[in-house]
Formats: sequence, structure tokens, C-alpha cells
Amino acid sequence: MNKTILITGAAKRIGKEMALSFFSKGWDIVIHYNGSEVEAEALADKMNSERSNSAMIAQANLENANEVAKLVEKTLSKNSRIDALINNASTFYPTPIGTFSEESWNALMGSNLKAPLFLIQSFHKELEKNKGFIINVTDINVDRALVNHSIYLAAKSGLQTLTKSLAKELAPNIRVNAIAPGAILEPPNAEWTTEQKNNIVNAVPLKRMGAEKDIVDAAIYLSEAEYVTGQILNIDGGKSL
Ligand SMILES: NC(=O)c1ccc[n+]([C@@H]2O[C@H](COP(=O)([O-])OP(=O)(O)OC[C@H]3O[C@@H](n4cnc5c(N)ncnc54)[C@H](OP(=O)(O)O)[C@@H]3O)[C@@H](O)[C@H]2O)c1
Repeated sequence: MNKTILITGAAKRIGKEMALSFFSKGWDIVIHYNGSEVEAEALADKMNSERSNSAMIAQANLENANEVAKLVEKTLSKNSRIDALINNASTFYPTPIGTFSEESWNALMGSNLKAPLFLIQSFHKELEKNKGFIINVTDINVDRALVNHSIYLAAKSGLQTLTKSLAKELAPNIRVNAIAPGAILEPPNAEWTTEQKNNIVNAVPLKRMGAEKDIVDAAIYLSEAEYVTGQILNIDGGKSL
């Protein structure tokens, strides 16, 4: 039976490229999505046409605990096993002080912190049995502060704390690490001006935006790094220096 990985938010962008990369290494993939059903189905069809029964899609709004529970059930229905989890899905938007409601708190905390923790709790026995790994995707701005994003960054900061404490708690059989991306892709629905892009690139010592491949390479490294746990790997072209 092939090893199985659940990647959340895997229909598009960085999650999709991670899914394709683990697929090319022989993994079976559970492609989680929320709204991007068409893209998730197309990705699963591509994988299943190359290797039958290698991929399955699973919808869940990660803000909702019942949907997280259904995602767990569906994931385990794939091969009755799970070997790895990448908590990649994320809600991202600004919450300037004086403007937000509890709804924003629940959305940003739900996808970025609460769901990752409950997914880990639900899968930890299976992951332990299979000597699996967990990768949480955070953000370098946790240590730099991004104006107007206090709730999002509090959630990602919590995810980094979980990474370290659970790495200790779940050792020696489960490794838990995080990838903290810098400026990789424009946020969905954002259209940066050339001047904005230039300002971002100028603040990066390696003088370019990142690409999906930069995060994929880090995920593959962490999947294979058998003596690494509890680490936050900044993939940011040196921006955090
Ligand atoms: N892009 C960057 O430059 C950058 C920088 C720093 C950190 N990161 C982190 O890197 C990871 C990937 O980045 P990205 O830009 O590729 O992410 P993204 O496109 O912003 O989001 C990934 C997916 O998350 C899913 N998602 C959002 N809210 C959800 C919810 N409530 N329930 C379930 N799924 C939900 C969406 O799925 P559907 O489309 O199916 O709805 C979306 O496609 C994220 O964790 C992000 O925070 C990225």
C-alpha cells in the first residue's frame, strides 16, 4: 500500500505544487479543498490518469469543527492509513484594529491554527504507527510584524508554537516541522503594482520573489530529514535577516 499524505488547501498555488511533487515521488494524495472543487477535481483526474487510485479529493471548510471531523474520516477512508500531513490551507486578509468582528477571528484562527491542531490530534495515532511527519506552513512575518494583520499573525505564531511543543510531545515517532515562507506569490485577488513588486524584491537579499518550487523543495527536504524535528525553516530569500 502506498504512503498517503493529506495536504490541505491543495487545489491551487503552493498546495497544488506540493501535491504534484509528493505524487511524483510515489505518494497517494488526499487533496483537500474548500471552494476550489473544479481545480481539485482536475488535479485528482490528472494524478489518477497517470496512476490509478492515487488521488482523492476531500472538501471541508476548516473553520467548522464538524467539517474537520468529516475530513479526517474521508482521509482515512482512502487507504485506511495516513503517513503525513501538511497544514497548508490558510485564510489571509487584513484586520485593522477597530474594524474586525468575531467572524474574522473565527475564520483566521480556524483555518490557520485550530484546524491544524485538531487534524494533528485526530491523526496522531496513525501517524505514530507509521512513523510519519507533519509540516505546518506558517509565515516569516510572525517575527517581523505585518501591519493590520494581527489576527492572522497571532494564528501563524500559534502554529509555530504548536510545531515546537508537539515536536517534543510526539517524538520519537512523529516529526513536526514548519516552513515559514516569505514573499512567494501575490495574495489571491491582490494585484500589486510594479512599484509594490519592486519594493518587495528590493527588500529580499536574493533579489527575487519566491516561487512555489522554493516551498516544495523545503517540504521534500523536511519529509526526508529523519533527524530534524521542531524546526521552523524560513524560505524567504534572506528577507528575515
Ligand atoms: N503566498 C505567499 O507568498 C505566502 C507568504 C507567507 C505564507 N504563506 C503561507 O503558505 C501557504 C500557502 O500559500 P498560498 O498563497 O498558496 O495559499 P492561499 O492560496 O492563500 O490558500 C491556500 C488554500 O487555502 C484554502 N482555504 C482558505 N480558507 C479556508 C478554509 N476556511 N477552509 C478550508 N480551506 C481554506 C483555500 O482553498 P480553496 O481554494 O479550495 O477554497 C486556498 O486555495 C499558506 O499557509 C500561507 O499562509 C504564503
